[in-house]
Amino acid sequence: MADAAPMAERVLGIESSCDEMAAAVVRGGREILSNIVSSQTEVHAPYGGVVPELASRDHARVVSGVVEAALAEAHLGLESLDGIAVTAGPGLMGSLLVGVSFAKALAYRAALPLVAVHHLAGHLAAAELADASLAAPYLGLVVSGGHTALYRVEAGEEPRLLGQTLDDAVGEAFDKVAKLLGLGFPGGPAVSRVAEAGDPGAVDFPRPMAKKSGLDFSYSGLKTAVLLEVQRRGGLEAMGQKDVADVAASFEAAAVESLVVRTLRALGAESLDQLAVVGGVAANRRLRGELQAAGERDGFRVSLPPPSLCTDNAVMIATAGARLLGRGESDGLGLSAFSRVPVGEAPWRDAPA
Ligand code: KG4
Ligand code: ZN
Repeated sequence: MADAAPMAERVLGIESSCDEMAAAVVRGGREILSNIVSSQTEVHAPYGGVVPELASRDHARVVSGVVEAALAEAHLGLESLDGIAVTAGPGLMGSLLVGVSFAKALAYRAALPLVAVHHLAGHLAAAELADASLAAPYLGLVVSGGHTALYRVEAGEEPRLLGQTLDDAVGEAFDKVAKLLGLGFPGGPAVSRVAEAGDPGAVDFPRPMAKKSGLDFSYSGLKTAVLLEVQRRGGLEAMGQKDVADVAASFEAAAVESLVVRTLRALGAESLDQLAVVGGVAANRRLRGELQAAGERDGFRVSLPPPSLCTDNAVMIATAGARLLGRGESDGLGLSAFSRVPVGEAPWRDAPA
């Protein structure tokens, strides 16, 4: 991860692991020349969650336009690039394959080096891009729709997993609670918006894993507690706006508290004084506020990328790719996608050239 190795110059990043099709050009691993994100909110909204088959079909429809827009915004032609980076996993298989296939075709046509990037390594790279003074060693809290994990990041090494969710990811819990409360899709921002008008102390939801030591998380019990609370209030039909706001605010307070408690524990256990928070849930205002307040109180630095670099984007992939290419790593056209990949592993590296 973070190191002083040279970065490849102009890198095109392509990200399509879930329901965003994104392309970006980054210079020297630091300067954003373009950042295009095509979201599929309308495609999935009627279903209250991402439908994998619809996601990949829509990616295939928009991929070439999104990449063209990223090159145009950067005022660069394909021939002026120095490399292409693409998310090869983890994520939805069909979605990943659209980005990987397109990246391979471009790399072949323009005879450019191609490099596969781990989606979560990409999220961590976004934190370093957004905050030039963030330097390893630091603690990385990755909070998204698919992941809830703490990593120790050391210079020149792969991030080391310290703890992770044993069931649902925190973003997934936000999405499911949004559905229970009739707040639509995507759920995280909707719950957070409604919660602003609610009382976070209205319902004393269980703090997931509150009594357990260690650095793992759990969110399925909290989600069930919200379901039971909605039933106790006579169902959604019987609940007014204030009820919905109170339940949303109380859920958000419980979800955020368990992230904060474990993050503080990890900083102490690892003797670290820098924290980077990445992934879609890092856009959450309550989480940002509580971590920043804890940092001021306990004397650790908190690095929070702007919300546009927290949710899925291709700047993070181009940045992580620039670092890999700069180190002389690249992947052959036999590159494939992998739906499940622990951080630090690169199964694509073994693909035939
Ligand atoms: O990183 P991301 O864009 O995609 C994945 O890799 O999963 O994260 C998306 C997740 C979704 O679950 C979404 O509901 C959540 O991030 N999210 C939020 C907020 N904005 C996005 N959760 C809570 N508060 C937010 N403001
Ligand atoms: Zn993500």
